[in-house]
Amino acid sequence: MRYGYFDDAAREYVITRPDTPRSWINYLGSRLYGGITTQNSGGYSFFRSGGTGRVLRMRFNGVPVDEPGRFVYLRDDDGAGPLPEGDFWSASWQPVGKPLDGEGAYTAKVRHGLGYSVFEADYGDVHSEMTTFIPRGQAFEYWALTVTNTGQVPRRLSVFSYAELANEWNYRQDLENLQYSQYVVQATYADGMIHRRNSTRDAFSELWFALAGAPVASFDTDRDAFLGPYRTPSAPWAVERGECSGSETVGDNSCASLHARLELAPGESRQVVFCLGVGSPDEPWTDSRASAGAPVTLPAGREVVAEYATPERVQAELDAIRQEWADHVAPLQVRTPDPELDSMVNVWHAYQTHMTFNWSRGVSLVEAGDRDGLGYRDTVQDMLAVIHAIPEAVRERLDLILTGQTAEGGGMPLVKPLEHVPGRMPTPSLEQYRSDDALWLPITVAAFVRETGDLGYLDQVLPYADHGEADVFGHLVQALQFSLDHLGDNGLVQGLAADWNDCLQFGTTGESMFSTFLLANGLRVVRELALESGRADAASWAAERLEALAPAIDKAWDGQWFIRGISATGAALGSHLADEGQIYLEPNVWAVISGAVEPERATAAMDSVHTRLASEHGVALCDPPHTKPMEGVGLSLLVFPVGHKENGGIFCHANSWTIVAEAMLGRGDRAYEYYRSYLPARYNDSAEVHQAEPYVYAQFTHGPTSPRFGQARNPWLTGTASWTYVGVTQHILGIRPALDGLEVDPCLPTTWDGFEARRRFRGAWVTVKVENPDHVSTGVVHLDVDGTRVEGTVAPGHLLREGAVVTVRLGASQA
Ligand code: GLC
Repeated sequence: MRYGYFDDAAREYVITRPDTPRSWINYLGSRLYGGITTQNSGGYSFFRSGGTGRVLRMRFNGVPVDEPGRFVYLRDDDGAGPLPEGDFWSASWQPVGKPLDGEGAYTAKVRHGLGYSVFEADYGDVHSEMTTFIPRGQAFEYWALTVTNTGQVPRRLSVFSYAELANEWNYRQDLENLQYSQYVVQATYADGMIHRRNSTRDAFSELWFALAGAPVASFDTDRDAFLGPYRTPSAPWAVERGECSGSETVGDNSCASLHARLELAPGESRQVVFCLGVGSPDEPWTDSRASAGAPVTLPAGREVVAEYATPERVQAELDAIRQEWADHVAPLQVRTPDPELDSMVNVWHAYQTHMTFNWSRGVSLVEAGDRDGLGYRDTVQDMLAVIHAIPEAVRERLDLILTGQTAEGGGMPLVKPLEHVPGRMPTPSLEQYRSDDALWLPITVAAFVRETGDLGYLDQVLPYADHGEADVFGHLVQALQFSLDHLGDNGLVQGLAADWNDCLQFGTTGESMFSTFLLANGLRVVRELALESGRADAASWAAERLEALAPAIDKAWDGQWFIRGISATGAALGSHLADEGQIYLEPNVWAVISGAVEPERATAAMDSVHTRLASEHGVALCDPPHTKPMEGVGLSLLVFPVGHKENGGIFCHANSWTIVAEAMLGRGDRAYEYYRSYLPARYNDSAEVHQAEPYVYAQFTHGPTSPRFGQARNPWLTGTASWTYVGVTQHILGIRPALDGLEVDPCLPTTWDGFEARRRFRGAWVTVKVENPDHVSTGVVHLDVDGTRVEGTVAPGHLLREGAVVTVRLGASQA
């Protein structure tokens, strides 16, 4: 079943049936003021932090799942048209939820765009269009509503806004500590504006809500007065009555309801603009919470409304948001024989990589705000896919996360940007470290240096989290040293609190094969960087350490694949000798990616992955899933049913590495088959199977052993976004930055004739044309830059001037 389509020209996903299997969401705003919206305009907003800056309330996991939200009701005030007097509906399908089928049905079209969502509705000869977005750099949001009389007779209509305002900055305080948070809130109305205040332990918070484009006919600031007792947002009392009650809030719960009356001649349109912002209506307001970082001062609400709430300004700001996002996704655009790949890579997948960069794991319908802050490993990986698009922002984040590394080399599990003070953070105990966290750094730092060509970045001195400092190269060496200092009895890296897999605890006495391969990979990358930057001693050091790991890696071969790790009691996890968890995906893909194993074993390991773990919806994380504990390893994945999440689910983040690994082996058909197996767009016409948004990756899909095989869960904020982007663009399409230029070395499905791409590289726009007349997967026969033949697979940086065209011919032999 299909609920919508990709409109790539507009960079929108258009939902034509709003009763999607689950809520299909979109993101709004920036890290200053952001929010999410569902296809029904459910959702929430926050200021500076999803966890500790809540503006619009969300009752997570409520029923229905996506309320409250930014709701606007329309009401027929005179019965002159086809509707009875008093009939009401909402600008988004829910919360009123008029029938979608049958005569006089409500029809909806939701256009999720990059940074905005538009809710179009037709009902009873009235067309409405509500656009919600947060203008660039601002701490307020627009809900701009245009109402058109599409019938033959004049109409009198009412419109009402409704949103629940959080009582407290802290989302948990707001939702749970009711004996306190319910009694701190006050809201008043004056001159067209609602003013909501509280005085909390942490700090005073103020919000304003305004209507422009029509006079305010009535208002409610008290939630219960607007809804009426025992009612829900599907039928608020005020809307049913046709008028708000003029309530002011003294404790309990506030809301933002402003009511306007519109008279519309046949064919006439009117726009009204609701604005919700942080601060006070009448004076500038400063957020000086100690926990919020540097103070931020915001202008008075009335000034904002006077400047921004005109139809022209709304349109200009919408254009600006659209342009900003067009600029963010433009640096890599592709045209391939696969339109679904194109829709994803050019628009939605690129956008998702920015969302994970912006919001980490803090803000969605599933991530409620508890994971507010930057998880070390997630953050380092999230940067990988956006370096070419926003190098300056990545550099800032990279600096920050490098200062989240401790002097002994490990990563702090969580870095809170607003509270982080480098040099002053407590050093975690060995047991608290994850064995992989800092080992991701070499990959991302190398990618940054190669994209920008800025080798000097390696010399930048940055403090450690707890004490001391080093240059960036020193930070990388220290990350490797941390693991080398904590090898176990078998010569593999101690697993500590977790490795990439949060649900496997090998502790200080067990060893992780995943982290061992990540260490090997780090040693390889640091050696390359050392050679590139003239650090000969460091290069030899890394080469020696890598060689020293080889015997332990060799022993971890189980016959047909690599084991997952060794328990504190010496038993192998991920071995054919075990009866559960016999094979795991992660060590086998990283065996290949790290380059630390010989080609025969690399190929055999990936063949085992294919035989034992691959399925039509993606590759399972392990098989068979676990049902019982294993001595000497913490298997916290046992909390999940079989086939779910880390317990044998199709963990999409790890699926992305199958693409990279297969492409590195030169097997283009298999790399592409894996890519397609969990490609969200592929499910556009069978959305009832996948259920999650067909335009973004989810964290996992129920695996083959689950009765819900194929259903995807936890969309949006997942490392799947960045690594799949790397997999498809840098390994299948094979366009990747190198220190001396742009490498083009694809590994294509043999069915493809070639493809084209437009890529920004170090400030110049470059076109890449790949021809594949022999239908091979790999093998660059020749590469030309503007007609000049070049040896190898790298288009040299000095030739990549503005408008340069790189032509690559793949083939079986020299042509
Ligand atoms: C979640 C975590 C990530 C972890 C993964 C596998 O996505 O955010 O850090 O690597 O699960 O357990």
